[in-house]
Amino acid sequence: MEYKTIIEPFRIHTVEAIDLPDLKQREAALKRSGYNLFGLRADEVIIDLLTDSGTGAMSAEQWAGMMRGDETYAGSRSFFRFEETVTSITGFDHVIPTHQGRAAEKILFSVAVESGDVVPNNTHFDTTRANVEYQGAEARDMVIPGGTDPATILPFKGNMDVEKLRATIQEVGVDRVPLVMITVTNNSGGGQPVSMANIRDVRSVCDEYGIPLFLDACRFAENAWFIKTREDGYADTTPREIAREMFSLVDGTTMSAKKDGLSNIGGFLAMNNARWAQEARNLLILTEGFPTYGGLAGYDLEAIAIGLNEVLDENYLRYRIRSTEYLATTINAGGMPIMLPAGGHAVYLDAAALLPHIPSYEYPAQSLAIELYRAGGVRGVEIGTVMFGRVDPHGGPDDPATMELVRLAIPRRTYTQSHIDYVAEVVIDVATRSEDLRGYRIIEQASWLRHFTARLEPL
Ligand code: F0G
Repeated sequence: MEYKTIIEPFRIHTVEAIDLPDLKQREAALKRSGYNLFGLRADEVIIDLLTDSGTGAMSAEQWAGMMRGDETYAGSRSFFRFEETVTSITGFDHVIPTHQGRAAEKILFSVAVESGDVVPNNTHFDTTRANVEYQGAEARDMVIPGGTDPATILPFKGNMDVEKLRATIQEVGVDRVPLVMITVTNNSGGGQPVSMANIRDVRSVCDEYGIPLFLDACRFAENAWFIKTREDGYADTTPREIAREMFSLVDGTTMSAKKDGLSNIGGFLAMNNARWAQEARNLLILTEGFPTYGGLAGYDLEAIAIGLNEVLDENYLRYRIRSTEYLATTINAGGMPIMLPAGGHAVYLDAAALLPHIPSYEYPAQSLAIELYRAGGVRGVEIGTVMFGRVDPHGGPDDPATMELVRLAIPRRTYTQSHIDYVAEVVIDVATRSEDLRGYRIIEQASWLRHFTARLEPL
C-alpha cells in the first residue's frame, strides 16, 4: 500500500523555542514598530515567513561538515570541496565564492555591464535590479503575458517572453545588451518556475546575437523539480540531471546559497568566460576576500557543499514543493485569493482581490500583512505599493505597484505541518473578516527602499 501523506523526510535533532506573545503584546509591538513588520524582534513573532533566505535548518551532516571547516587563508581544503561540488552540479570552469547572492551580482555586473546598457530578465529580484541600475544600466523585466496576473494558471508562469526579448535586442541594439538573465524560480513573479524549453528558446535568441546568458539560480533545485513533474520528457530524469541540463544551456550563474544551498549564508558566481572570471576574482579580492574563501569562513564553504547535494534529493524536493502547495490550496479553499498556481518557496496572497475596499494608496497588502501578525503572530512581507509604489512629487496619492501581494515564504526544513496548519487557520480567519480591515497611511519614509524603515498609522 502506498500511503498518500507526504511526510517531512527528516526528524528533529535540535529544537529552538518559539516565543508566544499574546494579542496585547503583538498590538504593542505593532505600535512600537510603526506598523512595519521589519521593525519586529524575532521574539515577537510566532511563525516567521518573512523570507526563505538563510532561515532554513541545516542537517546533522552539514553541522558535522562545519567541524571539518578548513580556515586556511589561501588554498583551503574546504574551498576545493566546495568548488568540486559546484562544478559537478553546474559544469562551469570558474567558481568564485561570495558572501551572498548580491555580492555575486555586484561583481558580475561590475565586470560585464556598462552605463547605458540594458539587461533583460524574466523578473529581476530587487537586489539584482538595484545592482544593474547601480552600473547606470537599465533592468528590464519580460516575463510572459499571464506571468503577472495572479489568477492565470500556467505550468511555467515564470517563463521569459522570447519575442519581447528579441524585440528588445533589436530596439536597443545588440551592443547595448551585455547579457541576458533568467531567474529560477521567478521569485518576484510568485516563485513560478521556468521550463527547460524556455531556457533553450532564450538560449537560441542569445546565440543568434552572440549575447551571454546567465541564470540567477537561487532556487535551481525547486525549479528542477517543477520541470521533472510538469514538463514532458523529464519524469524519469533526476533533479541533478535536470539541473545539469539547465546550467549547460547558460554561460554562467549567480547564486545565493541561502536558498537552495540550504545554508545560512553564502553564494557564488560561476562561469565559463576566463577573462570575465579573472576580472571578477580581482574585484573579489578588493571587496570580498581571497578567491578561495570569498568572504566566507571555511566552515561555511563546507555547509554549502553539503547543502547543494542534499537539496537535490528527490524526497526532500517532493516534500518541499508539496508543503508549499498544501498551504496554498488550504487557504485558497478557505477563501483567501492567492497567486496561482502555488510557487516553490512561498505562497503569495492577493490583497487587491481580498480587499477591494482599500485603494492601493492606502496599502491593502500592508494592511493584510499587519492583520496576519496582529491576529496570529504570523509575519509575511508586503510586496505591493509600500515596496514598489512611487511617491507623487506633488503630494498626491502614490503611483501603485502592479500587484498587491503578501508573500508567505517558507523556510526550508524548519516548520512542521502543524505550524503550517496554524498559519492556514490564521489566514482563513483573516480572510473571513476581510471587510473589517482598514487602510494605512505612511507618516515617515526614506527616499529609497522605504519599505524597510517606513512608519505607518491606521486610518
Ligand atoms: N536573486 C533572487 C531571485 C533572490 O530571491 C535573492 C534574495 C537574491 C538574488 C539575492 O541573494 O539575499 O543572498 O544577496 N532573496 C531573498 C528573499 C532576500 O527574501 O527573497 P542574497
